[in-house]
Amino acid sequence: MVALRPAQAKDAPVLAALSIETWLNTYTRAGLGPKRAAYVLNEFSPRALMQAIEDEQVTVSDHNRGITGYTRAREGQIAPVGPCHGTELVTLYIRPAMQRQGIGHALLSNLVAQATRRGSPALWLTVNCRNHNARAFYKAHGFDPIGQTDFVLDGKAYPNFVLRRDLPGAG
Ligand SMILES: CC(C)(COP(=O)(O)OP(=O)(O)OC[C@H]1O[C@@H](n2cnc3c(N)ncnc32)[C@H](O)[C@@H]1OP(=O)(O)O)[C@@H](O)C(=O)NCCC(=O)NCCS
Repeated sequence: MVALRPAQAKDAPVLAALSIETWLNTYTRAGLGPKRAAYVLNEFSPRALMQAIEDEQVTVSDHNRGITGYTRAREGQIAPVGPCHGTELVTLYIRPAMQRQGIGHALLSNLVAQATRRGSPALWLTVNCRNHNARAFYKAHGFDPIGQTDFVLDGKAYPNFVLRRDLPGAG
């Protein structure tokens, strides 16, 4: 059983560390250079995560001894391709050592239920085209590709799929 709860201000440093760990584990393979190091330290600073907790819907999976993963979502967002409008899943990160144990499923199911209750017509997100694990996860959860966009890091474009799942409120 995965225990979920809304993130609190005190979680910001933990979510920052967890995000850096998960991002590096997912997107870097060999040596780590200064540009990527600077990116994660800025993007996932405790201050940035604190802002997300204040402004967005952030839910954590809490296993008593600490946080194992989280979702970040924003309502009423327009996707970069479409037409597609609804709740954007900004981040879904599970600590590498805790992956494939049903935690991502629990967090995503919770977000689907929340967004449905709020009357959102769809849930959408972007995923790196080469992130095959995440693509398999989202496919297993009913998301379909609706187009492509680029994630630009240090002047280099990384192709991403835009994925959408319609919710019961969809017209
Ligand atoms: C992708 C991620 C969110 C999935 O969460 P998770 O807790 O590891 O996944 P779950 O255990 O809940 O998996 C549920 C189902 O999704 C599918 N799935 C999950 N990971 C998979 C993988 N690596 N390969 C194939 N299918 C996978 C399976 O159908 C799985 O069910 P099963 O284990 O009974 O076969 C998580 O692995 C993660 O944080 N990865 C790194 C960060 C990332 O890529 N985030 C998404 C960026 S858009």
